[in-house]
Amino acid sequence: EAEQDLKDKHVLITAGPTIEAIDPMRYITNHSSGKMGYAIAKDAVSRGAKVILVSGVTQLECPEGVERVNVKSARDMYEAVHQHFEWADVVIKTAAVADYRSKAISEHKIKKDNSHLTLELVPNPDILQSLGEKKTHQVLVGFAAETQNVLEYAKEKITKKHLDFIVANNIAEDGAGFKGDTNIATIIESSGAVTAYEQMSKLQLGHVILDKVKAYL
Ligand code: C5P
Repeated sequence: EAEQDLKDKHVLITAGPTIEAIDPMRYITNHSSGKMGYAIAKDAVSRGAKVILVSGVTQLECPEGVERVNVKSARDMYEAVHQHFEWADVVIKTAAVADYRSKAISEHKIKKDNSHLTLELVPNPDILQSLGEKKTHQVLVGFAAETQNVLEYAKEKITKKHLDFIVANNIAEDGAGFKGDTNIATIIESSGAVTAYEQMSKLQLGHVILDKVKAYL
């Protein structure tokens, strides 16, 4: 049995993609598998934490001992996360939240007529930023999946979203990112400290992230 070093800590994790409806059949989403967030949830429970996992639609089984809240859209996720924010000591936002959604959701299937179709998109609320603005004692951890300028964007996000640290990975690299069971991450802290890690399994990286969280609790 793992050391119970997070005993009774309340950990709120988001994972997976959001899906944003266009009409009853169609939606906008992304390639997130949810594996990173589920791995963190599993490690946290094994270390004695109470875990709520707010999950987009994924193929994954809920780890034993984890309370899962299923959501679809970014706005659903926003509601669920805010509902549990007071409860949380730690919030880890691995979810790949869609930045935009369709302005209108058509009640009926949109028919084709061989001319152009323009879909108007409007921005979704930034969930993490909204938490940063109301945080009291919570440790806030963000993720940054980028294809370029990874460090620079990560530092901007720490400031803008009031994070304690951010886990950045370059999704264009082999062995990192959305689908696989491994990741290559760099942790950037609000102090400016930067630690680059070798490729490891998402479960191992989850452990590393929670070790870092401990230092902030
Ligand atoms: O700005 P960007 O989407 O790259 O930031 C990534 C971080 O912000 C992730 O932790 C993600 O879960 C979170 N995020 C969010 N709400 C959004 C967009 C991103 O919570 N609308």
